[in-house]
Amino acid sequence: MKRIVVLVSGRGSNLAALLDAGIPAQFAAVISNRPGAGALALAASRKVPAITLDHATFSDRESFDAALAAEIDRHAPDIVLLAGFMRVLTGAFVNRYHGRLINIHPSLLPAFPGLDTHQRALAAGVKIHGCTVHFVTPELDHGPIIVQAAVAVRDDDDATTLAARVLQQEHRIYPMAVRWLMEDRLQLTDDGRVHLRDAGAESSALVGNIKFAVCEKSLGRRSH
Ligand code: GRF
Repeated sequence: MKRIVVLVSGRGSNLAALLDAGIPAQFAAVISNRPGAGALALAASRKVPAITLDHATFSDRESFDAALAAEIDRHAPDIVLLAGFMRVLTGAFVNRYHGRLINIHPSLLPAFPGLDTHQRALAAGVKIHGCTVHFVTPELDHGPIIVQAAVAVRDDDDATTLAARVLQQEHRIYPMAVRWLMEDRLQLTDDGRVHLRDAGAESSALVGNIKFAVCEKSLGRRSH
């Protein structure tokens, strides 16, 4: 069975979605750079080894990333997932896991890389927002896109309500992408393209929300 290591920093709702999805793989470890992260307690409650590697105890980014890589490699994962891991990784770390390091980001990349994505989406007045699962490359939030899901932005949204609807979609597409990887259906090609075998119905289902949003707006109604 293939092995997965998940890196976290916070509450762990994406971790929960991954653990609950029945993905045919073993979750070998969950590693947090923040002591006391909710995701650690969640992992422990599911009998997944929960490890803290506090970045504050390292003198620089390079030494933390080297220790993190050593800890990851101890669990011999096939893939490494970032699930709310709130730390920029060095190029050396990212390149070590080329094609095996995946992230979920709460925007429709390449729009709104970085932090405060929901607030920035509202400020920009976009009508469609969403989330992206992508391979990680050294440039922050810019790696090849695996799958995205969109939600309509409502007239009465604030960052909290918008984040909640995007999060529902995160919980849907992250397990989907990881399953594709575990089934050997998804590959990052040498020229940096994402190749998904037998995409069919699963991926076209993801644009359903966009169609819904456009219909609702053109009818001049608020979408609820
Ligand atoms: C998610 O919105 C994820 O996209 C972002 O950080 C948040 C983590 O939430 N990278 P959780 O810890 O998975 O609940």
